[in-house]
Amino acid sequence: MGESLKGMKRTHYCGDIREADIGQTVTVMGWVNKRRDMSHLFFIVVRDRTGIVQVVVDEQRDAERYALAKAIRGEYVVAATGVVIPRTPENVNPDMPTGGIEIEVQELRVLSEAEVPPFQVASEDVALDMRLKYRYIDLRRPEMQKIFQVRHKTAQSVRRYLSEEGFLELETPMLINSSPEGARDYLVPSRMHPGQFYALPQSPQQMKQVLMFSGFDKYFQIARCFRDEDLRADRQPEFTQIDIEMSFVEENDVLAMAEGLMARVFKDVLNVEIPKEFPRMTYHEAMERFGSDKPDTRFGMELCDISDLVRGCDFQVFSSALENGGSVRGINAAGCSAMPRKQIDAFVELARTHKAKGLAWIVLAEDGSVRSTLQKFFSEEQLKEICQKFGGKPGDLIFLCADTNAIVFEALGAVRLAAAKWKKIIPEGYEFLWVTHFPLLEYSPEDERYFAAHHPFTSPLEEDLHLLEADPAATRARAYDLVLNGVELGGGSIRIHQKAMQDRMFAALGFTPESAEEGFGYFLEALKYGVPPHGGIALGFDRVIMLMTDAESLREVILFPKVKDASCPMTHAPNTVAPAQLEETGIMLLPKNSDE
Ligand code: AMO
Ligand code: AMP
Repeated sequence: MGESLKGMKRTHYCGDIREADIGQTVTVMGWVNKRRDMSHLFFIVVRDRTGIVQVVVDEQRDAERYALAKAIRGEYVVAATGVVIPRTPENVNPDMPTGGIEIEVQELRVLSEAEVPPFQVASEDVALDMRLKYRYIDLRRPEMQKIFQVRHKTAQSVRRYLSEEGFLELETPMLINSSPEGARDYLVPSRMHPGQFYALPQSPQQMKQVLMFSGFDKYFQIARCFRDEDLRADRQPEFTQIDIEMSFVEENDVLAMAEGLMARVFKDVLNVEIPKEFPRMTYHEAMERFGSDKPDTRFGMELCDISDLVRGCDFQVFSSALENGGSVRGINAAGCSAMPRKQIDAFVELARTHKAKGLAWIVLAEDGSVRSTLQKFFSEEQLKEICQKFGGKPGDLIFLCADTNAIVFEALGAVRLAAAKWKKIIPEGYEFLWVTHFPLLEYSPEDERYFAAHHPFTSPLEEDLHLLEADPAATRARAYDLVLNGVELGGGSIRIHQKAMQDRMFAALGFTPESAEEGFGYFLEALKYGVPPHGGIALGFDRVIMLMTDAESLREVILFPKVKDASCPMTHAPNTVAPAQLEETGIMLLPKNSDE
């Protein structure tokens, strides 16, 4: 049940009414946030996207409306017209922007009734699965409305800045060809070509390069991307990029443009000034100092290499790691000596989840004594010498890990972050960082071949070109990532623009000329007809919003996100389709394996 508007017209948003409006007749519309019956006065708090306002119905003035108001329940949709009046001093609510006034009702209409909602919009700890199943109710919450206002403003700010800088906003297709490399594609069957499939773009990478071949010179798009990967707090299968490509540029041009973009967005949306230029660090330095290619540089606890100090020691774990070309490194969790044993054990476990075989620790107690998992293997003198390498003082806690460099970095990188969080030493604020000179290729032992660390169109560093065949893993790329507070916000590169170089790259990736032609034919051909040097970047739009709103997961900043198994709890996608739909696209389903 519910009435129609019948000529009623909203004059104000709830949250906008102020003392200056006293005496005016206003009409507001929205959801019933709260209701209160005070003997002969009935209060209805109406909520819309801007906030809330209180509407009063007085039984003595208007018995009929009072009766109607009493029947109103939470989440009913109502329209109310009335005069803005000041609240009596004892009823003023200083915590509420509209807390100084209320609306004395003249007309009240129920536009829609509502069943008792599965949870209260105002309640704080609603289970995530309920929030996502009833996302339309969850999104009514002011915090959620605020996030999507930030999202809107950010998109507008990006568009303004890039347009002013001469970029064209262009749309590339969603139904594209599947090509090898990259993550797993989402496929779309073709009715016209049974047995053939489109892929949804993992990013508009090839398309945006082709736009440079076409002379568009500067392109951007707020582009939807699809990757059939496992979900994490900062990874969704469907996400949005601020995708950018520029012709006739080198690294500095792209980086300066992205710095300007971030500065504009943070100023426009958050009124925060960020530095005009961001510090830069090579991948090598980031790994050595922080054990991560996306280091959070807001705090220290940097990694320290003690391989030389312990080389040749009797402790088998250390010596064999070193003999196998690995290293022994650690961090000083300064001031953490009082960490409970259970917490230390949790860090050891954390290191194990990052593939480390173990994590040793040395506690430098306040009284100057030393406790360690290594007491059996090292004398107190030796332990103290190790601690000295870290500048260890009484009250500190040192973690050590021995393994291949890759594992040591990953494990200590994770322990460093967790220790800083435990000690609560990470300051507020925004610390941007460029990480540059990434490796071009990564070896996959399972596939026994190299993969592009970024993507196969990334240009090798000119000075490393001689390494491409001789020592592929040592070849560095003209690739860069933008990092904010330890989160990878974006990545890009200067691209290969010569056909011969692109052929060489595919060969390094193990493609034959024929298989490269099969996978990337049109693109390789396009490289023959005049290509400007070009480069670009893609910023994870959702991640930008996540950091700007201090949200803990991408889920909070995406309207209808997917959950862990990549399904949508509200719409129940993915779902089965009618047999006729399958037949049209020439698809036959395999019978479900009965012994599963
Ligand atoms: P890349 O794969 O590094 O580069 O992606 C760029 C940025 O997109 C964001 N991102 C994601 N956000 C949410 N969920 C995901 N699953 C996800 N995957 C990536 C990250 C990341 O830094 N075409 C290249 C860019 C280029 O070379 O110009 C690309 O897509 O913030
Ligand atoms: P274990 O002999 O495996 O019980 O190891 C003895 C101690 O060595 C453990 O308590 C850890 O503190 C330490 N340890 C084991 N493996 C490693 C490793 N890969 N790196 C650092 N310390 C280790």
